[in-house]
Amino acid sequence: MTPAIVVHGGAGQVEAERHERLRTGVRAAAARGHAILAAGGSALDAVVAAVRVLEDDPEFNAGTGSALTRDGTVEADAAVMDGATRRIGAVAAVPDLGEAVALAREVLEAGEHVLLVGPAAWQFAGERGFHPAPPGALITERARARLAGAGTVGAVARDAAGRFAAATSTGGTNAKRPGRVGDSPLPGCGTWADDRCAISATGHGESIIRAALAHRIAVAIAAGIGPREAARAALAELRALTGREAGAITVDATGWSAIQLSATMPVAWVDGDGAGDHLGDRVP
Ligand code: GLY
Repeated sequence: MTPAIVVHGGAGQVEAERHERLRTGVRAAAARGHAILAAGGSALDAVVAAVRVLEDDPEFNAGTGSALTRDGTVEADAAVMDGATRRIGAVAAVPDLGEAVALAREVLEAGEHVLLVGPAAWQFAGERGFHPAPPGALITERARARLAGAGTVGAVARDAAGRFAAATSTGGTNAKRPGRVGDSPLPGCGTWADDRCAISATGHGESIIRAALAHRIAVAIAAGIGPREAARAALAELRALTGREAGAITVDATGWSAIQLSATMPVAWVDGDGAGDHLGDRVP
């Protein structure tokens, strides 16, 4: 099968002066993930590598540049899911964690649990060689000014063996309560992969959870609906249910889609036809 990767940098409303920086960021992430696929690597390795690029890029709401809690702290949510085995690893509300997708991958590999939360997750993280970010290291001026938005970063991929994987990472919503968990680390909400497709969502987490957005898309794909129509219908249902904004990237065996309800969602991809990027494909 032809490998493909799609990366998003969060659904939202972004000032025009930031557009090019966001597009540059998602392009770099897609290229990093695709290099792994092109070398025969797995979809799982590719999505983790792509999301790590965006966690380290201060333009995005994940890792460095995360949205802050109302206490002015950073608490990370992330998940990674391997469609071929249905293994998933996730972390939520973990303070001072700059590499949340990598820790989620460790949870997946350990295989004992699916989701570790809060400060206690540092016990496992420490055993796996992770260290808390130094005080203030993940906090940017943009986040301090509460401009990070509800963005999230994510990647979905299909590898040459026809396996699918998804990864999502976020600082969550601006001024969230400490301890709040959004959609990103929850299977079937912000992140999903199975033997037919992979999905990473972005937008208002509570609405995505109520809509079980990623799983809705996966169920439609299992019924034979293409990735764009499956995502469009699930997003329209979310909008009707909650009135809030969201977006999703989806890949299956037939192709991929990246669509959102919000004004923008920076997206980059590399597939059999080459590389590309844009600021979104809005659901009418
Ligand atoms: N979609 C990101 C969040 O609400 O946490």
